[in-house]
Amino acid sequence: CRAVVISGAGKMFSSGVDLITACDIRYCTQDAVFQVKEVDVGLAADVGTLQRLPKIIGNQSLVNELAFTCRKMMADEALSSGLVSRMFPDKELMLDSALALAAEIASKSPVAVQSTKINLLYSRDHPVAEGLNYMATWNMSMLQTQDIVKSVQAMMEKKDAKSVTFSKL
Ligand SMILES: *[C@@H]1O[C@H](CO)[C@@H](O)[C@H](O)[C@H]1NC(C)=O
Ligand SMILES: *[C@@H]1O[C@H](CO)[C@@H](O)[C@H](O)[C@H]1NC(C)=O
Repeated sequence: CRAVVISGAGKMFSSGVDLITACDIRYCTQDAVFQVKEVDVGLAADVGTLQRLPKIIGNQSLVNELAFTCRKMMADEALSSGLVSRMFPDKELMLDSALALAAEIASKSPVAVQSTKINLLYSRDHPVAEGLNYMATWNMSMLQTQDIVKSVQAMMEKKDAKSVTFSKL
């Protein structure tokens, strides 16, 4: 998933949880239900849930509870545990908000957004010192784009980032 993906209303069973843990930003409707269901069918959850979920919600006891019991987690608990960052009364409001968020992200420098994402993911999976080393290496190539000059210029002239033409990736 690239920038924004959403867990829609209704049931989100195992493959749903696999998929949503791979997304960068997660929104849901207030009737969404999340469940890690594999143990109920005699399996261990695969493709990502057991690897990503603990890092996303940072609450190993809750992850274990969800994975061992297959109990359902309702939208409000998904919000309070950090599985989703916003919850909406209905699907229309959620989609409007997700599209506005996507437009906002798309108006920024693609090189800056992509570099930020890659470095956040790297830092999630490595110690701080390694993350800083990686960032320093990224810096060497990133500082070659014109986007930094353009962004700083726009900021100083109090222009909206949307008026700037950024480099393609
Ligand atoms: C872990 O999850 C439980 C259940 O949602 C919650 O009550 C508890 O406050 C959480 N703990 C932390 C440290 O976030
Ligand atoms: C990356 O470059 C920026 C801009 O020159 C600098 O402020 C920052 O300290 C650098 N980060 C690392 C980890 O080298």
